[in-house]
Amino acid sequence: MSLIETRGLTKSYRQPDKAPGLAGSVRHLFNRRFTERVVVDHVDLDIEEGESVAYVGANGAGKSTTVKMLSGILVPTSGEVRIKGLVPHRERMAVAQHIGVLFGQRTQLWWDLTVRDSLDVLRDIYGIAPDTYRRRLAYFDEVLELGRMLPVVARRLSLGERMRADIAAALLHSPSVVYLDEPTIGLDVAVKHRLRQFLRELTDDGTALMLTSHDLADIEGICRRLVIIDKGRIIFDGALRHLMDTHARDRILHIETAGPADLDALRVALDRAVVSEGDAPHRFRIRFDRFTTTAGQVVAAVNSVVEIVDFSVDEPAIEDVIRRVYAGEVDVQGAVGGAAQGVVDAEAGHG
Ligand SMILES: Nc1ncnc2c1ncn2[C@@H]1O[C@H](COP(=O)(O)OP(=O)(O)OP(=O)(O)O)[C@@H](O)[C@H]1O
Ligand SMILES: [Mg+2]
Repeated sequence: MSLIETRGLTKSYRQPDKAPGLAGSVRHLFNRRFTERVVVDHVDLDIEEGESVAYVGANGAGKSTTVKMLSGILVPTSGEVRIKGLVPHRERMAVAQHIGVLFGQRTQLWWDLTVRDSLDVLRDIYGIAPDTYRRRLAYFDEVLELGRMLPVVARRLSLGERMRADIAAALLHSPSVVYLDEPTIGLDVAVKHRLRQFLRELTDDGTALMLTSHDLADIEGICRRLVIIDKGRIIFDGALRHLMDTHARDRILHIETAGPADLDALRVALDRAVVSEGDAPHRFRIRFDRFTTTAGQVVAAVNSVVEIVDFSVDEPAIEDVIRRVYAGEVDVQGAVGGAAQGVVDAEAGHG
């Protein structure tokens, strides 16, 4: 049994069908019609101990709604969800002992209390023993510099401090499942970096982490598995590395040569790579597939035609690949369920 397990998990909302304006509202009063809007649509997920899963999708895709069902805040319309075998919306108190939730846009600290007082309240709610509590606080001080925030009233904390205090609050009871909904929103680069490192260590210790974020550097820095949700449906579930290897095989080599290069001669020497002009006669670009050639081979081939002065290699950004998946330009349908088993069409989106 997985730590997190969902089968056909679905949430829909009833939306009033009404024409805009006052007349529409009045007519709706007498003729109430609704349509069902499915926002999470038959989601199947299995997440194991120590797994770090990035749950990404465009605005309104259904990410937060999924997390709310996983934590028992929302009751699913249909389908099943289990956390350590427990049904969250039915056994909220029991499930709460196992999960930690952070919604980056909101705080679970009490605004008018000091961080210390808020954490004390949570200690009592979770029934954490005094020495365990002391050890947790010492740990959070070490990794999040929590100590200097403890005496401060929550409303006076800066955004980055508040987020770190909130993370301590979410993890205080050592939950085995952690959902973080945009945990780095608004944080500065240094704090983001520390937080990512902290989250990696957390999963190394066996915690299952599910992260939603629009900051794709978070995903690269923290998660190995990627789940992409689009209009409530999972459209990709697999290893992040696998997605990149399949759909981001191309590398672009930027080359600067001593003199103008004969591009036709280069095209002959480089066989399958694509050579295109740069902004000057001695600068050009070569696009190649890193699984058929290495950058070293390309450089050697160019050097045999014309002398190279400088070069650099561009890797496709994870942003670009995910953007293409959202836009439907990349066919990842085969990957759903078959997670990372090489079922993705290797040629799709290539070239
Ligand atoms: N209580 C509600 N009643 C009706 N529709 C709702 C309700 N809550 C959420 N929705 C709709 O469900 C859809 C999914 O919302 P959700 O918050 O899960 O998106 P998200 O993927 O977290 O987006 P974001 O990236 O913007 O945070 C949205 O279109 C939203 O308008
Ligand atoms: Mg959201």
